[in-house]
Amino acid sequence: MSNIEKEIAELAHPELPNHNDEECLALAEKLMSQMTLKEKFGQLFQLAPSNANIEGLQWQETNDFNDLIKQGLVGSILSVADIKEIYQLQKTAVTQSRLGIPLFFGYDIIHGCHTGFPINLAMACSFEPKLIERVAQVMAFEASHNGITMTFSPMVDLVRDPRWGRVMESNGEDPYLNKLMGQAYVKGFQQDSLSSYNSIASCCKHFAAYGMVEAGREYNTVDMSERELRQYHLPGYKACLDAGASSIMTSFNIYNGVPATANKFLLRDILRNEWGYSGFTISDYTSSYEMLDHKTSANEREVAKQSILAGLDHEMVSTTYIKYLEELITANEVNEALINEACLRMLTFKYKSGLFDNPYKNIYANVDQYYLTNNSRQLAKEAAIKSIVLLKNDNQTLPLKPTTKIALVGPLGKTNELVGAWGGLVKNESCVTVYEGLVNQFGQANVQFAEGCNINDNDSSLFEQAYEVAKNSDVIVLAIGESQTMSGEAKSRAYLNIPGVQNELARKLKSLGKPIIAIVFAGRPLELEWYQNNVDAILFAWFLGSETGDSIADIVSGKANPSAKLAMSFPYTVGQVPVYYNQYKTGRPSATGKYSEFRSCYIDVPNYPLYSFGYGLSYSKFEYSNLQLSKKQISGKEKLVAKVTLTNTSSIDGVEVAQLYIECKSFSVVRPVRELKAIQKISLKAHESKELTFEIGANDLAYYNIDMEFTPEDTDYIIYIGGCSNANISDNFSYNS
Ligand code: BGC
Repeated sequence: MSNIEKEIAELAHPELPNHNDEECLALAEKLMSQMTLKEKFGQLFQLAPSNANIEGLQWQETNDFNDLIKQGLVGSILSVADIKEIYQLQKTAVTQSRLGIPLFFGYDIIHGCHTGFPINLAMACSFEPKLIERVAQVMAFEASHNGITMTFSPMVDLVRDPRWGRVMESNGEDPYLNKLMGQAYVKGFQQDSLSSYNSIASCCKHFAAYGMVEAGREYNTVDMSERELRQYHLPGYKACLDAGASSIMTSFNIYNGVPATANKFLLRDILRNEWGYSGFTISDYTSSYEMLDHKTSANEREVAKQSILAGLDHEMVSTTYIKYLEELITANEVNEALINEACLRMLTFKYKSGLFDNPYKNIYANVDQYYLTNNSRQLAKEAAIKSIVLLKNDNQTLPLKPTTKIALVGPLGKTNELVGAWGGLVKNESCVTVYEGLVNQFGQANVQFAEGCNINDNDSSLFEQAYEVAKNSDVIVLAIGESQTMSGEAKSRAYLNIPGVQNELARKLKSLGKPIIAIVFAGRPLELEWYQNNVDAILFAWFLGSETGDSIADIVSGKANPSAKLAMSFPYTVGQVPVYYNQYKTGRPSATGKYSEFRSCYIDVPNYPLYSFGYGLSYSKFEYSNLQLSKKQISGKEKLVAKVTLTNTSSIDGVEVAQLYIECKSFSVVRPVRELKAIQKISLKAHESKELTFEIGANDLAYYNIDMEFTPEDTDYIIYIGGCSNANISDNFSYNS
């Protein structure tokens, strides 16, 4: 054992006091009274040792960033996950800096720390916030036993453009679902107390509207009306803050011409003044430096000034604060009170996190025992099963009988590269492949594999071999799609096709005339029209993480019944993008058929998506009937009660996600064609019926009106309930204030 290992083995983890907010504030204030100005700047800096560009720092004595830590010039550390390294950095801060202020350690734990859960967009398809909360708890447990204090999650950027590589990290296109999921992540990460040994702090991101980068191009411009911003995009962030998120990260994009990292409207007017948020703001990576590229700051000194004035507290990677804040204060260009405010937030957070009580609280010996446990794997499997969307299933092709002879064909059949982007510390080796899963379920003798082609090149030399394997089977299971590196940050695509020659492979196999089941992997919605028209069943598998193969096999064999619904619409073609269910009402809408050809339309594809938000099949069949409203009119704070009967008309037990949408019949501004307002996930035995009860009140009907007030107007509504955003069982009611 090395000395460090010995020291780590001796660390104790006694119960920590749970200071309330006032106590933390008072402790932070007291500490601040002993701090020099420089030490205060230090609390505003997050150092990334892997990208420590500390040249040109005023107080640099050596080239070693440990020196900065000793001088109290570092507040937190980014992306270090090695326990020994974390211990050493913390020890330096605590024992060698003048005031011994502990560092906090931030890391991107997005959909898994060591146990790989499905990508976030996939888990959003579960429509089950409780599941998300449980998943976040496991992520927090693994991360908090890996030296990590804070995760930069959840990402609640609302998305509509699958070309953007980061849709995989999102909760999809709907503001209501996004809110539910965002809150569930925050609750799961932080649990009841930040000082608990099992929780980590949550930093939601990217404030604001990063999901709307123009044309899906990474780091691109965002420009939209304030109404659009408030109605669709801000609620996700607000929900996370209401749930107690410790921090919020600014986005790379501009909003209304100003980079988000120095955007006073976002960071001060909305976040502090309107919402009264008291946690800290952090920039995204080098988003401060990037103001030089945006050309809104002429130099780093201006970056620092604009950012602190706008309300940025903590700089990630960029060093403009520790370089220039002192000079700006001396020149009377920045008021010291702003530095005090920011520093106070940082220290208050550290007190809340228990770091002053035990700076080594997240450091343990023999850590492997905490990771990838049977329980966490089991939850990963449950999450994966609940994320897989059944898009098509003609003639009950699925599930397959146990004796079916399967030809598994495709480049994703035997690979374990199934974690998905932003996989934290999850290893590919933890992932069960599709082949392994099918063999476990159907037996080695019943599963033949052929790769057929690679994911993304033009090589068709393996087609023949795949054809031969497929010839001898009862059914062809295609495992196709994107590689896990084709989505994520800076992974925008202009095409939404299944890449390489995979479509050609599918066409060739189609000529055999055998049933084909396509299992499609991707970090984004893809164009699937050919598959919809030509194969028998489609399972959309996203990236499912550690339990990929077993969860797919459970669904293919019928051990599990699919229940997921799309959290993001799938276009027919990239040319329709953005295409989403809750679009504004237009003049000459396509559906009415008025004005014959002169209406909102394409001449080559429909206006609507191939698969819309909320869509997803089950092996069971569900029917909605007998919608009854408690009243035809509600007033003031009264609630409308809607009851509907849901019946499983099939002989297979199943789970349905019932969705309630409203349509506003007239308002002072144009509203979406439909708005999701409630969901319920219900288990139904074969042939069972249940009566579902929903409640709708004024707040559900409210919208940013012509004067930008969030209010319900006195008007008429249609209520729709069903298993998809095009649910067609409906009734009318009106609201009167
Ligand atoms: C991403 C953030 C992430 C940060 C730190 C940035 O490039 O945009 O989402 O939290 O890196 O890793």
